[in-house]
Amino acid sequence: MKNQLKAIFGLSALFFLTSAFVVAPSSNESRDAQEQDAKIELPENVKAIVEKKCMNCHKPDARNEKAKEKLQWVKVPQMNKEEQEHFVAEMFEVLEDGKMPPERMVERFPEMKLTEEETKTLLAWVEKEEKRLKGK
Ligand code: HEC
Repeated sequence: MKNQLKAIFGLSALFFLTSAFVVAPSSNESRDAQEQDAKIELPENVKAIVEKKCMNCHKPDARNEKAKEKLQWVKVPQMNKEEQEHFVAEMFEVLEDGKMPPERMVERFPEMKLTEEETKTLLAWVEKEEKRLKGK
């Protein structure tokens, strides 16, 4: 019994050691790391739209707690890959359905509504980010 246990311990130690070598760095590790680190950038034309029509509710000192909790533009350039994917998916949803700015706001301030041109600009931007995330 003792010997059997020893054998099991020996084997697992051996397995542990070999697995350390199996996960050796792959040749394109630095490329992967770069992609992993890549951040979302807001080009000037996107920033201008966001400042004008989206920022009010989605900033750290916004009074709209729900909006603030869901999205803060200042955090967008710091998002990790998973958060970026989530953000991009949500942006597609709100842009395609015309959900933002919320209807209640647009009713009171019609000038807040995104123009067709602005929607296109934002969509083109998130499409580009999506392609980057998918490595295309
Ligand atoms: C009047 C305040 C207000 C403005 C302006 C506003 N939002 Fe929002 N936004 C909200 C609220 C409130 C929520 C949370 C909605 C919910 O959870 O139902 C939200 C949620 C979101 C979400 C997350 C979607 C989700 O379903 O959780 C995205 C993305 C978003 N907004 C993008 C935008 C963009 C882009 C603009 C500018 C075109 C914008 N918002 C302008 C209030 C606002």
